[in-house]
Amino acid sequence: MTDILHGNLIQAPSFGVLETIPRGYLVLEDGVIEDVYRRLPERYAACPVTDWGQGLIMPSFADLHLHAPQYPMLGMGMDLPLLEWLDTYTFRTEARFEDLSYARRVYRQLARDLIASGTTRVAMFSSRHAAATLILMEELERAGVTGLVGKVNMDRNAGLSQETTEESVSETLRWLENCRFRLVKPILTPRFTPACSDSLMEALGKLAAERGLPVQSHLSENRGEIDWVGQLHPDCAQYWESYRKYGLWKKGTLMAHCVHSDPREQEAMAREGVWAVHCAASNVNLCSGTAPVRELLNRGVPVALGSDIAGGDSLAMNQAVVMAIRASKLRQMETGEPFLTVPEAYYLGSGAGHRYFGGGGGFQPGTKLHAIVVDDSGFPEPARELTLSERFERAVYLMDRRSIKAVYSEGVSRL
Ligand code: GUN
Ligand code: FE
Repeated sequence: MTDILHGNLIQAPSFGVLETIPRGYLVLEDGVIEDVYRRLPERYAACPVTDWGQGLIMPSFADLHLHAPQYPMLGMGMDLPLLEWLDTYTFRTEARFEDLSYARRVYRQLARDLIASGTTRVAMFSSRHAAATLILMEELERAGVTGLVGKVNMDRNAGLSQETTEESVSETLRWLENCRFRLVKPILTPRFTPACSDSLMEALGKLAAERGLPVQSHLSENRGEIDWVGQLHPDCAQYWESYRKYGLWKKGTLMAHCVHSDPREQEAMAREGVWAVHCAASNVNLCSGTAPVRELLNRGVPVALGSDIAGGDSLAMNQAVVMAIRASKLRQMETGEPFLTVPEAYYLGSGAGHRYFGGGGGFQPGTKLHAIVVDDSGFPEPARELTLSERFERAVYLMDRRSIKAVYSEGVSRL
């Protein structure tokens, strides 16, 4: 079936590139993008058109790092650095997801809130619980959020959330056996090196190889964490090597943060195709630092953005984009590294993540549509006619759930 969306088309097909088509046409065949047009080709003249008027039709957001069971602690308890923050607030919050009716309630709300804020693809951490993780995947699929979810593995230094090594492995197998979803797939998730014993890391590395499963974790977020990894793995010169040792450092592995990754660690990422997921709000909230995003990109490391709730305080990925720009400006003031422009940061928060999942950076023909429609008519009145790129910039800063009028995920309207 042919669907046609009509409105102001705005896309960042690759890093640093912004393309706009005023009152253009986006043609879909069964949810797959056929192409975008300035004028509608004659052959589509009889097809139904959804006219969004002056609305801005843009690629949706992709959040490549967030913790679903931390949603209840959003906006709270950010007065401690990482390791104390985990011990004081986080492990006990995640432990509550033993309770499946609680999990159902929180995860249903989270899935709806993701769609309402324009996020259609995620790479997400769950808690240690297999059953609650399956509920999370079910709720995401129901709401139309696509991507990857991981039952978290943590058999040491994890307080109330800790499992034994045997439980961790058997729960992972039980979870994998029951992952039967169309749009949401499993990703192996060792929490981070300090929370995983050598035998657990080894078991997960084997599983990743045997079943071809992707991997996500945390890397070089905080100085205390990095020193601790050095003590736990004296044979590893750097943090990343503790993952490589067990086969967890491979193409497509997602590593959140990389705030303190030096050139050698960055080169190891570029060489293997390991992704850095930049979470600027969390890095400021937990006093971790500002990540070397442009340096990573210049070295050829693939970079995407994450909200990292609840180290991050907002689920809204346009806010993650804005925070990435702000953090990059602080970094420019400190180091001279040029800040991220709005189109660059927006690409990292949308197109880069879509590409991770095999989609297009912008409205690439042959890919399923992942898009939002923003109504900017409620924003402060323009004193003069604004260009579409000015309106795009303002929308990135000002949009919220009230101004997001439609969300398309996998070619289907979900709002
Ligand atoms: N490192 C290990 N676990 C976590 C977590 O839950 N949040 C953040 N920001 N870093 C971590
Ligand atoms: Fe995290």
